[in-house]
This record gives sequence, structure tokens and C-alpha cells, in this order.
Amino acid sequence: MRLISTTFYRLLFSILAMMILSCNGLEVLATAPSGRTLVVYYSFTGNVRSIVNTLDEKINADVVEIQPAEEGLDYAANNYAIGSSLIAAIRNNPNDASSYPAIKDAGVDVEGYDNIIIATPLWWSQMAAPMQTFLFHNGHKMSDKNIALIVSSASSGIGGVVSDAKRLIPNGNFLEPNLWIKSSQVSNASSMTSQWLEQIIFPTITNDDTISVKVGDNTFYAILEDNATAQAFKELCPLTINMSELNGNEKYHYLDTTLPTHASCPGTINAGDIMLYGSSCVVVFYKTFTTTYSYTKIGHIVDSSQSLPQALGDGDVTVSFGHDETAISTIRVDEMSDNIYYTIDGRVVTNPGPGIYIHKGKKIKL
Ligand SMILES: Cc1cc2nc3c(=O)[nH]c(=O)nc-3n(C[C@H](O)[C@H](O)[C@H](O)COP(=O)(O)O)c2cc1C
Repeated sequence: MRLISTTFYRLLFSILAMMILSCNGLEVLATAPSGRTLVVYYSFTGNVRSIVNTLDEKINADVVEIQPAEEGLDYAANNYAIGSSLIAAIRNNPNDASSYPAIKDAGVDVEGYDNIIIATPLWWSQMAAPMQTFLFHNGHKMSDKNIALIVSSASSGIGGVVSDAKRLIPNGNFLEPNLWIKSSQVSNASSMTSQWLEQIIFPTITNDDTISVKVGDNTFYAILEDNATAQAFKELCPLTINMSELNGNEKYHYLDTTLPTHASCPGTINAGDIMLYGSSCVVVFYKTFTTTYSYTKIGHIVDSSQSLPQALGDGDVTVSFGHDETAISTIRVDEMSDNIYYTIDGRVVTNPGPGIYIHKGKKIKL
């Protein structure tokens, strides 16, 4: 009798535990990250930079590159001697600021972001030293923020980098899984990042977030910020304006209307940024530099082929901002074949590389 009742209570307990767990499971079902996103990356030989370029086409994020203060060091020379000694110094004394190699001011305030994607190479099974420096100084400001990790290595597993991230951002809300892209897989980075964004249910851009930007024969697309200024600017489109050249890094135009503002100093201006200066001056930047001026960000022109500066040229230029779909309105339904892809400006591509295309009447990302 005692055995039966013990077994009964054990069974009852297991059923209750399962019910509680499954209820909790429902309650804690992952919710999609929302709010502002920062991608912060370091890249020595360019792999992580390529990965971040593919990511930048899919999400609405500010992107910041970490740069060592000392330029021109070859971390891989002499069997990775410099990289190895930098990692050893951190490993031996992780709580001492002097163990971390100096980096340039990244010009970013991480506190203004809800989601932070960290993309880094692996060095000697740890996080690359310059990225560790950035996180040593900023990780404590990332409490409760959503943290996502992308790591590239030649072959080593990324457990040590994940531990570094968790040590340097002790109170981060880490999104799972991490994304590991080996150097031999960088050519597949576009599909790997797409798949990963789905896994961490990260919001990707849609038609509603984009406008086309036409300069001469070149059509780019821009990802709009999620703010009232960008919405008001989108409502002005289609809009063709003559933009004046300034300082070898920007084109500007004063609208004859004002837009909502919430200006702040971004620290770093990135090539491709579309900004509002004051309440009516639209500025398109085609170089990356640091600034002390304040702007309200409207959006960012995606320019993975780096052709924006040439398209804008060095003088005044006419730029047309429009609704994305207008560029593809000439595609006929009978052209919606399985193997025909169109660029956003309606050109047919037979072997599409990574990017955004129209395929069978739908906008897709490869
Ligand atoms: C100093 C240094 C140490 C490295 N150590 C490792 C290692 O231990 N294991 C590994 O698989 N790859 C290692 N790598 C290779 C890089 O992780 C890999 O090539 C990565 O894709 C580089 O990214 P990047 O091109 O953005 O710098 C090392 C590279 C450097 C420069």
C-alpha cells in the first residue's frame, strides 16, 4: 500500500512538474527583440567585415567597427605572435584595464541601444583582443540588453569566445544560438545570417522600411529608421531634389517643409547615412568620419558594392527618393519564372550573389 501510494505521488508529482514546465515554457516562449540595434564588430583580415555587410542588408541597425589604436600591426606574423601575447595578457589578468590593447574611440554610446550584436574573430580560442577591450569598457553598460554573438574562426570551436562575452557582459540577455561562421564558410554568410536571424527571431527589414534612392542610372535602397522623421520623409516620396556638394563627404538639400526632429550627435557618420540637419536639411553622406554636429537619422543607404561615392560624384547631383516597388513595376507577371531574379532596379540577374532581389514577384534576400 505504501509502495503504491509512493508511486502514485511520484507519478502525480511528475505530471504536475511537466504541467508547470510546459506552462512556463509557454510563458517564456522567446519574444522577438525590438527597439534600436547596434552591430559592433572587429575584423583583422576582413572575414567578419564581410559577414557584417551581409547582416547590414537584412536588419535595421547602426554598425560600428572597432579599430586598434596602434595601426598596421600584423597580429598573424611569426605564428600569430602579437595576437598570442595580447590574448595571454588578458587571460593572465582579465580584471586589469592595462591587460587590454588600446582601441580608437568607437564614438558610440551603447546605452542608447536595446539590442547589441557583437561580431568578432576568434584568436587562440578566445575573443579577439580589440573586441575584448571594447567590451571591457562597455559591457557593464549592457545589462539586460539583448546580446547576440557572431564568431568567425578558422576551425576552433567558439566556447572560449562565448565565455569571454559572458564575462565581459555579466548581465546581458544572451540570445541563443550564437552564430559560428568558419573562414571557409564566409561565402555562405548571407544565407547563414538569414537563417540565424530567423532562429533568434530578430526583426528583418520589409518593404515598409525601405525607400529607393536613384542617382543617375544607379538605384540603391535605403533602410529607414523606425522614427517619426523617417516616416515623414517617406511620406514626401517620391521626391526628386538637387543636392549640393559639401566638404567632399556629403550632399545636402533644404526641403521647403520641416520634419519632426530628435537630434543627437551620432559621434560617427557612416557612408550611406541619410540625416536631417536642423528640421529641413536632408543630408546624404558618402564618407565615414567622426562628427561633433547633431542630426536626426532618417535612414541608411545599403551600398555593399561601395558604388555610392562614384554615383554621387564630386559636384552637385540630382537624387530621387521613391517607394521601393516603383523600380520593379515594369516586371510582367509572365516573367515570374523560377530562375529569373531581378535587382531592386529591375535588372535581370541569372546568377544572383548575396543581396536583395525580386523573385517570382516577391522581394527576397539571398
Ligand atoms: C592572432 C590570431 C589568432 C587566431 N587563432 C585562431 C585559433 O586559435 N583557431 C582558429 O580556428 N582560428 C584562429 N584564427 C583565425 C581567425 O579566427 C579566422 O581567420 C577569422 O575568420 C578571422 O576573422 P577576420 O578576417 O574578420 O579577422 C586566428 C587569427 C589570428 C589573427
